[in-house]
Amino acid sequence: MYHFHKERKEITIDKYNTPTPWMNYLSNGTFHTMISQAGGGVAFYRSPQIWRINHYRFFHLPMDRSGFYTYIRDGKDIWCPTNEPCRMKPEQWKASHGMGYTRYEAKRNGVEVKATYLVGSYEDALIWNLKFKSDEDKKITVYPYVELGMMEFMRELQWQCYNKHQLSAYNLEDILVYRYGVEDQPKPKETPYVYFASDAAISGFDCDRDEFIGSYRSEENPIRVEENACSNSTLFGGDPCFAFQIEVDLKAGKEKEVTIFLGTAMTEKEILDSVRNCRQEGFVSKSLRSLKEDWDSFLENFQCELPDKEAETMINIWNPYQMERNFQFSRNISYYATGTFRGVGVRDTAQDILAMIPFDLERAKNKLNLLFTQQYQDGHCNHYFFPTEGWEPVKRIHSDNHLWLVMDVYNIILEEGKLDYLFTSQPYYDGGRDTVWEHIKRSIEFTKKNLGERGFPLMLSSDWNDMLYKVCRKGKGESIWTSMQYGTVLKMMAHLSQLMGEEPSEYLRIYEEQKELVNSVAWDGQWFRRCITDDGTFIGSKDQEQAKIWLNTQSWAVISGMGDQEKQLQAMDSVKKHLNTELGIKKIHPAMKDYPSKEDPLTYYNKGCGENGSVFCHANTWAIIAECMLGRSDLAYQYYHQLLPMVVQSKAGEARYKAEPYVYASNIFGPESDKFGLANVSWLTGTAAWMYLAATQYLLGVKPKWEGLEIAPCIPEGWENVHIERVFRGCKYHITIKNSGSKAFIEHVEGRKEFSVEI
Ligand code: GLC
Repeated sequence: MYHFHKERKEITIDKYNTPTPWMNYLSNGTFHTMISQAGGGVAFYRSPQIWRINHYRFFHLPMDRSGFYTYIRDGKDIWCPTNEPCRMKPEQWKASHGMGYTRYEAKRNGVEVKATYLVGSYEDALIWNLKFKSDEDKKITVYPYVELGMMEFMRELQWQCYNKHQLSAYNLEDILVYRYGVEDQPKPKETPYVYFASDAAISGFDCDRDEFIGSYRSEENPIRVEENACSNSTLFGGDPCFAFQIEVDLKAGKEKEVTIFLGTAMTEKEILDSVRNCRQEGFVSKSLRSLKEDWDSFLENFQCELPDKEAETMINIWNPYQMERNFQFSRNISYYATGTFRGVGVRDTAQDILAMIPFDLERAKNKLNLLFTQQYQDGHCNHYFFPTEGWEPVKRIHSDNHLWLVMDVYNIILEEGKLDYLFTSQPYYDGGRDTVWEHIKRSIEFTKKNLGERGFPLMLSSDWNDMLYKVCRKGKGESIWTSMQYGTVLKMMAHLSQLMGEEPSEYLRIYEEQKELVNSVAWDGQWFRRCITDDGTFIGSKDQEQAKIWLNTQSWAVISGMGDQEKQLQAMDSVKKHLNTELGIKKIHPAMKDYPSKEDPLTYYNKGCGENGSVFCHANTWAIIAECMLGRSDLAYQYYHQLLPMVVQSKAGEARYKAEPYVYASNIFGPESDKFGLANVSWLTGTAAWMYLAATQYLLGVKPKWEGLEIAPCIPEGWENVHIERVFRGCKYHITIKNSGSKAFIEHVEGRKEFSVEI
C-alpha cells in the first residue's frame, strides 16, 4: 500500500482509498495547502479562520472533499489524476507525498498524467503542474476545478444566506478572480483577492459552482465536464468556484505541460504581476528546486544512519518535517481540527519551539518572542492567542504555560552558547517590557506565589493535561505534575543564574522544598500520585477505584530528578507493569467511568479514548526520555520503537490504525476501547517535537550543553556503527558510535567547522 523513498524523501501510496485521508501540508509560510493522497484538501492564506480559500467538508460524507481536482475528458472517459472525485478511476495510479509537495502519477487509456502540487517560495500560490503524455495522437479536454467558500468558515456556517451575496468571482484577462468583501469582516484591508490562472490558453471557464456542477450532482460528475463545455459563468452573489476548460492536443510520445496557479494577491494589479511571474519559463522547476534546497539544508542539521531503518526514516525525514508543520500551524487545522477557533497555544507552541531550536535558532527565538507578548507582569501567560486574526486571546490561567517559556530560553542558551538572548527586551501583555531574563524570573515568581495548601503549585485551569480542568474549580486543587515541571525549570534557572553571575541558591532551595513534597506527600507506595482535588482527594492513587496511576508524574519524577533514586525506578517499573501495551503506553489506568462521581465526572471521554486511557503519544515521549535518563536502554528503545508510526500502524493493522504511517498521531485508542489501535488527530501534536528530542538528545544522546556537545547514547546493546551528523554552533560534527555503552563530551571551540569523533 505504501513505501518510503529515502533519497527522494517521499512516501508513495498506491491505494487511493486509505482508511482516512493521508495528508501533506504545502506551505511557503504565507500561503498554505493541506492536501490528501486523493487530492482533497484546503488552501488558506495566513489564517484558516479568516482567509480560507476553498471548501473542505470536515467529518461529513463523502469524506475528503472537496479539493484541487483536474477532470480529464478523453472521448467518453472522464477521470482525475488524483483518482478522486470521479467514479471512473485511472488504470494505474500512485500518489507521493514529499517535503512540501505532493505528486500524482496516473494513466488511463494510453494517457499518462503526472500532476505535481506545491507551494513555492516565489509566489503565494498553489502551483498545480500537469504533465501529459499519450501513446497516440489525441485531443483531450482538461478541467481544473476548485470549489471556493467564504473566507470565514464560521461565518459561512452561521450566515452564508446573506453574506454569500456579497462575494464576487469574475474573469480578468482570462484570470479568474475571487473577491471576498463582506460587512464587518476582520482585517478587510489585509484580505487578499484569490486568483486562478493557467499558462495555457483557456477555452472556457466557470465561477458559479452550481453552473459548473449542476443541480443534484457533486464533484463526482460535473455537468459542464459531461457536456464538455464550460458556461463562462461569473458570480456576483452565490456559491463560487474556479474552473477552466483547456484543450490539450497530444502528439504520440510527446510530453505536454499545463500549469494552474491558485494564488492570492492584494490588488488586481498585483494579480496580473504575480501571474506574469508564474507564467515565466522555468518558474515551476525553479520553485521545485528551491523547495528541495530549503528542505535539504533544513534536514541536514541532523542526519543519522541506524540499524533500525524505520527509526532512521523518522529521525532524518518525517519527524522533523512534522515538527516544522506543528511549529507553523500549531494545533489549528488538520483533517481532524477544523481550523475555526484554535489560535496559537502558548503551551503547545512553547513545546514545538524546543525542537525547532536545533534547526533554526532565529525562527525559534522569533516565535518565543511572540509568546512573550502574552506574558503578564506577574509572570502568567494567556492560554492561546490570535496574532494573525487579531482577536482577543483566551485568558484562562493554567499552571504550566509560563513555565515552558523557561525551558525554551534555557535550551536556546545551550544551543547558542551565548547569553545574549537573555538581555533582549520583550513586552508584557499588560504593559511595559523587560529583558528575557526578567521575563522568565517572573514565570518562577508566579508559580512561587500560587502554591496550594500542601505546598504544590495550584492546578488553576489545568496543567499540561487539559482534562484536569475540574480539579481546581474552588481554587484549591494542586498539581503534582506541575511541581515536577517547576522543579525541572528551577534547575535550569539555577544554572542560568550561575552563568549570569547571580546567586542560584533561592532556586535550589525551592527545588529541594518541592522535591521533599514529591517524595513524601506525592509518593503512593509504588508510584507518584497525580494531583490533589479541591477537597483534598489524591487522584492517581491505589486508594482510588479508577485512574489509579498516571503516566506523567512517573516520567517527570525522573526528568525533574525530584524522585528519590529507588522511587524513580519503582515508578517507571509501575509504568511498565500497569500502563504499557503492545501499541504504546496508556496515560492512565484504569480508564474512568463515572469517576469520582456520576454527577460530576472528571471526564466524559469514553473508556480508552482521548484523555481517558488512550495511548497518548505526547506523554509517551517523556517515558522514553525518563528511561534514557535511568540508563535502561532496552526499555527506552522498546517504548520508542513501538510507537514509530509505521511500526504501530503495521502492528495494529492498517484498517484499525487508519491514520498516516509517516507522522505521529496525538493518541491511539487504548485497550479499554473496542477500537484499540485506532489512531486519532494525526499531524498536529506535541508528540512531534518531543519525540524528536527523545530520539536525538536522549536515545542517540547528542545533547547541547553550555560548554559543548555531550554524546551519551542510550541505544540497545549490540547496535554498532551508528553514524550521526549534527550541526552545532556552526560546526558539523561527524559522530560514530561503535559501542553502545560509551560516552563523550566535546568541548566547543569557536570557529571550528568540522569535527569527527568515534566512541
Ligand atoms: C492536547 C492539547 C494540549 C494538551 C494535551 C493534553 O494535545 O493540544 O494543549 O496539553 O492535549 O491534555
